[in-house]
Amino acid sequence: MDLSGTTTNIADLYARSLNVLESLRAQGARGGQAERQAPRFPITRAAELVGRTSAAVREAEKDGRLPSVERTASGRRVGYTLAEINQMRGVFGTRPWRGEGDPLSVIAVQNFKGGVGKSTLSVHLAQYLAIKGYRVCLIDCDSQGSSTALFGYVPDLDITENDTLYPFFRHAEMTSLAYAVRETHWDGLYLIPSNLKLYSSEYELAARVARAEPELLNRLAEGIASIGDHFDVVILDPPPALGTISLSVMRAANALIVPIPPTVVDFTSTTTFLAMLYETMLTLEERRLPIDLRWMRLVATRADEQKSMQRELLGLMRNLFGDTLLRTVLKDSAEIDNASARLMTVYELDQPVTSRETHLRCLTYLNGVSAEVETQIRLTWPSQVGKLRAEGIL
Ligand SMILES: Nc1ncnc2c1ncn2[C@@H]1O[C@H](COP(=O)(O)OP(=O)(O)O)[C@@H](O)[C@H]1O
Ligand SMILES: [Mg+2]
Repeated sequence: MDLSGTTTNIADLYARSLNVLESLRAQGARGGQAERQAPRFPITRAAELVGRTSAAVREAEKDGRLPSVERTASGRRVGYTLAEINQMRGVFGTRPWRGEGDPLSVIAVQNFKGGVGKSTLSVHLAQYLAIKGYRVCLIDCDSQGSSTALFGYVPDLDITENDTLYPFFRHAEMTSLAYAVRETHWDGLYLIPSNLKLYSSEYELAARVARAEPELLNRLAEGIASIGDHFDVVILDPPPALGTISLSVMRAANALIVPIPPTVVDFTSTTTFLAMLYETMLTLEERRLPIDLRWMRLVATRADEQKSMQRELLGLMRNLFGDTLLRTVLKDSAEIDNASARLMTVYELDQPVTSRETHLRCLTYLNGVSAEVETQIRLTWPSQVGKLRAEGIL
């Protein structure tokens, strides 16, 4: 076999793939990341998100508490950006931020298997929470950079290793992760991106942890603590394997979401995942690095209820896992595929790619899953007790 020929071939294929990604990015982002636009909201939706009436918003615009809104030539409102909505929340005192005694929510979306929808869920959840007005940081911990890509970046072209977690893992003298936190085109949502180089961390960390530096598994937790004051929620999108980065993610998290497609193969690997997770928790505990989860939820993802086998498995999962399984099922949707082909999320599509019906149905699943997660987050915040009671949740 001509190995060197094969290697050149692979290098060539890689170069050509990058070219394709570059042009996809140009199409999706209409000329690059910088020009990406966050969605705009009509006044009724904006008012609802702020927690006031449209009349109250107009009133505040009239009396100068809020700037008057941009209009088209024909006098119609252009719609409110998330930044404008957050400004309104400030004026009306309706920001949902955590209170002083409320712990930062650090949520790992984990399953040691690839393709189960971890990155898809992480990014949509992060954007949902940003729309709701929370201060969110999404940390892409996977060297494949799927979450990073969904923000319109081509990780291997647009991101360097110094933009990622890599330097922080590598250099013990660094005390803050702030260098890696970047704004996104979503107000209130920040991203620590990833690229292929992060894969080196996996090896370097593993070698050092084995050479009697187990406290390195704490490094991500330390990094998150160094930026935590600025956020309400941190979402961790880990690699699909049980390596040192995944261990660091588990150690840093205080909540866990496990996406599981309802197929026999995925169900089997999830069972293995639960066993590995349990073992991992014991091991870390022995090393005096306990995993401390305030809550954990499983969520059925990529489900196709047209398939009788999947319906059956969903029923089984429901019986088996009870309330630990989120009520909402994140069904397989062409709209998610279409959005991600444009390096975007469904929340960013300004019009349906499929049909309006499919688009709205997909939003219902995404919002349903995210709303259930939002409730879990609020349940960990003592300052929310009164509100949760009033809403009948507690
Ligand atoms: N609910 C869904 N409907 C349709 N496609 C989905 C859905 N969830 C994920 N996908 C697609 O499946 C692929 C793998 O998803 P991804 O979120 O990257 O998984 P993971 O992060 O677990 O590897 C992606 O192409 C994604 O667009
Ligand atoms: Mg992923």
